[in-house]
Amino acid sequence: MSNKKYFIKQLLQWNKKDNKRIMPWKGEKDPYKIWLSEIILQQTRVEQGWAYYNRFVSAFPNVKKLAKAADEKVFKLWEGLGYYTRCKNLIATAKFIANEKQGKFPDTYEEIQNLKGIGPYTAAAISSFAFNLPCAVVDGNVFRVLSRFFGIDTPIDSTVGKKLFTDLAEEILDKKQPGIYNQAIMDFGAIVCKPQNPLCSTCPLKTQCAALLQGKAHVLPVKTGKIIKKQRWFYYLVISYNGKIYVRKRGPKEIWENLYEFVLLETDKQVSFEEIKRSEFLKNVTATSKSEILHVSKTYKQQLTHQTLQGSFIQIKLKTEPILKEYKAVTYKELKRLAFPRFITAYLAENELKAFER
Ligand code: ADE
Repeated sequence: MSNKKYFIKQLLQWNKKDNKRIMPWKGEKDPYKIWLSEIILQQTRVEQGWAYYNRFVSAFPNVKKLAKAADEKVFKLWEGLGYYTRCKNLIATAKFIANEKQGKFPDTYEEIQNLKGIGPYTAAAISSFAFNLPCAVVDGNVFRVLSRFFGIDTPIDSTVGKKLFTDLAEEILDKKQPGIYNQAIMDFGAIVCKPQNPLCSTCPLKTQCAALLQGKAHVLPVKTGKIIKKQRWFYYLVISYNGKIYVRKRGPKEIWENLYEFVLLETDKQVSFEEIKRSEFLKNVTATSKSEILHVSKTYKQQLTHQTLQGSFIQIKLKTEPILKEYKAVTYKELKRLAFPRFITAYLAENELKAFER
């Protein structure tokens, strides 16, 4: 038997007999719900996405309900997932389907791929799961499984590599049951052919796995690793006056669009609390007002795909009204309703806002 035939046969057999993975969207046929799950999972781990998916499906059981919802409500439900472009596109696409397609989800690969926020991977997932169309998914799991089993060391993040793996994935896709096959290869990558410590000794594909036979499982797949992560430092001044705290909504073309934040001092290197206290920025904000430092937090860190964010939060109480043009002062109740980026919700979860203490 050729190694390709062996791969398909063993994978499907493993899926039938040994794949115990349960996920709320697995086996789902409603393209709306599949789309929702795939958008959530684009940059989120399954364990984390699970509860978000369930909350979204309960709040918005169909695309028309999502299209009608207030944007702020959708953003609030998305809070903590990060990469908010996904959420913006979700809203735009829901409105497009509700208004331009009478609420009926498109059912061809081309049409699905043309929707905002949907690339080749997500289009293949929806097409195969909902409509059983013969489209192969190529995500991180698939790159890893194929590169190991077939012993391919072409970098998966190169143009040549992407084409090579996509062509191979399409060639070996089981065209009779593309949905089941696609889910099987992703589950196999998550459970058996894991990034670290793959379960090679008990793997059902081990007798023909090139990586295992050549002792290369731990070095495949190969990445060019060209991405250099930008370092950004965010110092948040949690300014309060008269029992209210100053926040603003972040603008377009940057991370966290439409999310709220406190008064921000951004730098490209670490600065000390003393330097911030002496900074022109803080002097400008507080003007001549007397200020009291209520709390200085530890350093928080968040890793995004192309940038590393670090920083801390300083709670400052002012005696007179500050000059903060872009910001508005909110009460505790108002603040609770706003959606913040995870960097800030992590801080809020661990710290009291002293301005609101009685
Ligand atoms: N990641 C993205 N979509 C997935 C799915 N349907 N199953 C498992 N992992 C996934």
